[in-house]
Amino acid sequence: MFNHLQWTKWLACAGMLASLAAVRGQAAEMPMIAEKNGRHALLVDGQPFFMFAGQINNSSAWPSQLPEVWRAVETIHANTVEMPVYWEQIEPAQGKFDFSVVDTLLKEARRHNVRLVLLWFATWKNGSAHYLPEWMKLEAGVKYPNITGRNGRPVDSPSPHNTAAMELDAKAFHAFMGHLKQADPQYTVLMVQVENETGAWGSVRDFSPTAQKIFEAPVPAEMLQPKLLQELKKQAPATPGANWQTVFGDDADEFFQAYWVAHYVGLVAAAGKSVYPLPLYANAALRDPLSNPKAGTYESGGPTDNVIPIWRMAAPMLDLVAPDIYLSDSPRQLKFLDLYDRPDNPLMIPEIGEGVEYGRMLFAAMAHGSIGFSTGPLDDNGSGETAARTAERLAPFSANYALLGPMVRELARWSFEGKLKAAIEHDDHAAQTLDLGSWQANVSFGPGGRPGRGATPNAQQPPVGQLLVAQLGENELMCIGSSARLTFRPTGPKAGKEWHYLRVEEVTYNNGKFIPLRIWNGDETDNGGPRFGKNPVALHLTLYTR
Ligand code: DGJ
Repeated sequence: MFNHLQWTKWLACAGMLASLAAVRGQAAEMPMIAEKNGRHALLVDGQPFFMFAGQINNSSAWPSQLPEVWRAVETIHANTVEMPVYWEQIEPAQGKFDFSVVDTLLKEARRHNVRLVLLWFATWKNGSAHYLPEWMKLEAGVKYPNITGRNGRPVDSPSPHNTAAMELDAKAFHAFMGHLKQADPQYTVLMVQVENETGAWGSVRDFSPTAQKIFEAPVPAEMLQPKLLQELKKQAPATPGANWQTVFGDDADEFFQAYWVAHYVGLVAAAGKSVYPLPLYANAALRDPLSNPKAGTYESGGPTDNVIPIWRMAAPMLDLVAPDIYLSDSPRQLKFLDLYDRPDNPLMIPEIGEGVEYGRMLFAAMAHGSIGFSTGPLDDNGSGETAARTAERLAPFSANYALLGPMVRELARWSFEGKLKAAIEHDDHAAQTLDLGSWQANVSFGPGGRPGRGATPNAQQPPVGQLLVAQLGENELMCIGSSARLTFRPTGPKAGKEWHYLRVEEVTYNNGKFIPLRIWNGDETDNGGPRFGKNPVALHLTLYTR
């Protein structure tokens, strides 16, 4: 029987070979993540793509709920839908798999002309093991134990040290990915999330005798790599065979939990990649990014920002780890984008809250080069919500998705080429500037005053202003925004020169090209520049100096 490490190495190697073969064999069509000059793109049918996505409720990936799901998807104008796949449903008896629900999700998504990201709800879901198949639940107490808290009491979270559960999860995921490979030649499914918000609430790690024995044993060599230790701000141990406490001190408990959860998820991911190398990721329940909170006061062991290096090392078959953003203040939201946008970690936002404070983060994420952005929950969860209420609930996203969705390929290409910048209204409503090479953009926010006056920030209103700028040429910009006002100043050799708009053209996008709607001039551009109203519009703008 393979031990941990042998099993992991075998799967990873098989995965790499399969990935190589798959990329060589299937070339452009298979969704994959590309990297160029430190920027990433999700290639779909061989070209950069952006997921304007929404996630459905946890218990809505069932045929009975799909009519409401599709109504919400159409309301928000999503091009991609995140849907769970349930271990408890696909393996009703050990080794017996039922993919009929998965096949319905695929068929229905194609009928509604949307792509899917499937969420593997298995060992972990929000830190607990409530999606284990019933035949495992009935033996969980003995064969698949949860973790034990420091006080010796059980905690409702699966132990990452349980190799029996890990191998069963890996086998089921291998079967699921193998089914996807043969059931989805159209690549409706773009990515798969492995588990959901892994880690533990209520204890920083497992303190069971099994876990304690591993904790007191020497730290695995891969955790002692100099580059990793440097990033974790730790010193290499003075003597070989040092244990976790010796090497990691105050962070030992959390790093121990993170390593073993990542190792478990990494092995499951490798089992999936070995049969079908779709992009895989793990999502994180986040810790406050600004206050450096105490370990154990947030979900411990998942890919929180402070342990990303451990996750990227211990789960190499994951293409990225991603933040679930549910903090509504702009400093923290923007900090999450900085923390998860790394050369070794493509940015993707698999979950963001559905309130008005979250909508404009789409522009900030796109300017960061994110490969996708998803809010939720989309559907009414069987509550009988009216269409008007659904539309109101999804409004912070639907106007953006409706305008940007048709131009998705252009936007994704500009992102991959590093041409996107954004200014989104912060909680302080302060004006901002954007460096656009030969020009500086000055952006003010607010519902927009009368002609001749700048946007009027309204401290009583939530910050909703947003501006996305694509630099198409030295003097040519595509500016997409709402609740903002924009003016410019020439910089560099042209600094101080008189400048004007050559043309400000409102455009829409259809069938692969931008369609001019009207030219903005006069009150719409004089006295302080174009003023974006409540609904987002796209302006194709050229400037000149004389
Ligand atoms: C984050 C989880 O990933 C989702 O499945 C859902 O439980 C939300 N939290 C609820 O806020």
